[in-house]
Amino acid sequence: MTFTVQATVMQTPTRDELEVLSDVVITVDNSESDSSGTITAIEPSSTFTGSIDITLNPDAVLMPGMIDLHIHAPQWPQLGTGLDVPLEQWLFDYTFPLEARYTDLDFAAEVWTDLVTTLLRHGTTTAVYYATQDLAATTLLAETCSDLGQRAFVGRVAMDHPTGTPEWYRDATAQEGIKDSRASIDQIQALGNDLVQPVITPRFIPACSDELLTGLSQLAAESGVRIQTHCSESDWEHGYVLERHGMSDTESLARFGLIQSGTVLAHAAHVSTSDLELLAKSGAGIAHCPLSNAYFGDAVFPARRALDAGVHVGLGTDIAGGSEPGLLAQCAHAVTVSRHLEDGVDASVARSHRGVDDSRISAITAFWMATMGGANLLDAPIGMIEVGRAFDAFVVDPTRSSTSPLRRWDLDDDARWFEKLLRLTRPADIDMIWVDGIQIG
Ligand code: GUN
Ligand code: FE
Repeated sequence: MTFTVQATVMQTPTRDELEVLSDVVITVDNSESDSSGTITAIEPSSTFTGSIDITLNPDAVLMPGMIDLHIHAPQWPQLGTGLDVPLEQWLFDYTFPLEARYTDLDFAAEVWTDLVTTLLRHGTTTAVYYATQDLAATTLLAETCSDLGQRAFVGRVAMDHPTGTPEWYRDATAQEGIKDSRASIDQIQALGNDLVQPVITPRFIPACSDELLTGLSQLAAESGVRIQTHCSESDWEHGYVLERHGMSDTESLARFGLIQSGTVLAHAAHVSTSDLELLAKSGAGIAHCPLSNAYFGDAVFPARRALDAGVHVGLGTDIAGGSEPGLLAQCAHAVTVSRHLEDGVDASVARSHRGVDDSRISAITAFWMATMGGANLLDAPIGMIEVGRAFDAFVVDPTRSSTSPLRRWDLDDDARWFEKLLRLTRPADIDMIWVDGIQIG
């Protein structure tokens, strides 16, 4: 069995290329087989002879579903707040107390459902989550993603360090942390939904003992499960690891065996050229969280330099360090901060010394990071509307909302329209959403 959608597609097959598939018919397998959800054909509607199940409004655009490479699910209730203090204080004053509440599974259920529903409505068809330190709340997040149809990687947060975590929100010992992380993998895999996978999640080096980091690396080797952590996020974090381990965060994580193909490193605003070389060789990648970095990063992540070095780079919201739930907003922020990096920010510094040349990225590169950049790192057949990939997609329809700024005028060619889609789309403009060929909104 199949279904068909008639649409105009806009997407970014490469960092520099906007592809427009005008008025095509996309055929999607929706049989009971393993290939269900896969795109099997894309043909011009003018030559298509079969029946069409869904026809989009001619002003609407079908786009590949976006991938949030880094998001803290339990921080959803503090979205938009608490960004007045540095990262290390924010964690202890606001974030750890909130995350510790999720042993209350009723609270967890309410937050998870609201979060996952909202992300889907923003076009986030895949998310790589930090859940909480609590095993049951983490499994419940995976179940929620499964029930609501979102593709997800869900990590139980391992953290045991006697000074880097509060006594009331930590794994009792490294061994307990490793045991619960193993149990989390088993429980998420037991859900039996290929769309929802576990991810081994040492919070970051300051929150983890060396024993825990070593044990989690062994767990990754045994289980084949991917790893996520934070890396070189801020001056404080980068400096902490230099002092504790005598090397950069990237080098230290690599020494523990935590930098592998597919490892997701959040932020990495302070990585060096040699760190980038190490990451490019390993196949690990970076979740660029542009808005969050503006508050906690102390620097702009050099996205273009990382991409030029051959490192996988995708985008993350880093909720609630970042205060926007959607990835289109992050695309716009990624472009904006790249301009700040290139131009510099202090007018009292001579223009020739103010910024870093060749740092700007385009809207196309930003959307590529939000789709193909993430897909490549996760090694998942998503990120584009293409035969053989899963049908993860969303529709932007500018006729849907009377209050949205998103409008296409006669002066808007495809390139301009694409920029508008990135900068001006609001959830009210997003119509249908599919994950793995299943319409979920
Ligand atoms: N580093 C360790 N934990 C966190 C977190 O929750 N958010 C951010 N932005 N950085 C972190
Ligand atoms: Fe984070």
